[in-house]
Amino acid sequence: MAKKKRGAGQTALVTGASAGIGIDLAECFAKDGYDLVLAARTAPALEEVAQRLASTYGVKATAIAVDLGAIGGGAKLAAEIAARGITIDVLVNNAGFGHAGAFAAEPAEPQLGMIDLNVRALTELTHIYWKDMLARGRGGVLNVASTAAFQPGPMMAVYYASKAFVLSFSEALWEEARGTGVKVSCLCPGPTASKFRERAGTGRTRLGKSSKVMASAPVARMAYTAFRNNTRVVVTGATNKATIAAARMLPRGQVLKIVRGMMEPA
Ligand SMILES: NC(=O)c1ccc[n+]([C@@H]2O[C@H](COP(=O)([O-])OP(=O)(O)OC[C@H]3O[C@@H](n4cnc5c(N)ncnc54)[C@H](OP(=O)(O)O)[C@@H]3O)[C@@H](O)[C@H]2O)c1
Repeated sequence: MAKKKRGAGQTALVTGASAGIGIDLAECFAKDGYDLVLAARTAPALEEVAQRLASTYGVKATAIAVDLGAIGGGAKLAAEIAARGITIDVLVNNAGFGHAGAFAAEPAEPQLGMIDLNVRALTELTHIYWKDMLARGRGGVLNVASTAAFQPGPMMAVYYASKAFVLSFSEALWEEARGTGVKVSCLCPGPTASKFRERAGTGRTRLGKSSKVMASAPVARMAYTAFRNNTRVVVTGATNKATIAAARMLPRGQVLKIVRGMMEPA
């Protein structure tokens, strides 16, 4: 008799599943038997991912197009999910974007947009599903931060700060969930192949030109394994781990200068 898959009978909501790391994260959950709800703004891309994963892994996959950057976007998504009679067991807060440039030189809209999506929507969705996860004593939250979470980021200040929030928030919830059966992991990738760089404008920076870019599939697999094991924080790749260790050891003033140098145009 075939072994029952870990996620059978459960549903994972993956935000930002129309591109990049989110597609691979969704695939990891589907492979393990989870049904999926996939959310992002671009309906055709989402539908394509949903159909492929449903037919490859024999799971149910529902695509819901929504702008999570709009205030109340998380509640709107949750209402659409509830209207379809779907219960969410695992929440993967992956949707996010970056915007590079000096704070004074950049318009307010993308700066505030990063807070609305990377911070507000992530917190809103977590708040919506968290209590029920604790009551059920299973499931959990996989949040996507970044190596940017570990230090301030002059020349991309709001993005770095938004990811510091995600890391701090995730670690705090991990502790609040201790002993309940609910898992919390925070994925902190370094540069990863996706559409991120195009939208963020980081390709022109020294970091963008010099850094080693990881493929998104192994990044997602590391995150999935970490989530399964309830590992609090996962940093992808040896170089990224070494960079974070150095940032923790060096004086903050020096770190700020180094990061600024990396985030300036090459
Ligand atoms: N790639 C990297 O180098 C890197 C490094 C560290 C951390 N990260 C983090 O990894 C996560 C995934 O990014 P990625 O690299 O896979 O980038 P990506 O290829 O640009 O994918 C971003 C995803 O988020 C969705 N999204 C963007 N704005 C949205 C909105 N307003 N409402 C709903 N969905 C929205 C996008 O779909 P639509 O455009 O269809 O809405 C897409 O599915 C992000 O949180 C990012 O900060 C990425």
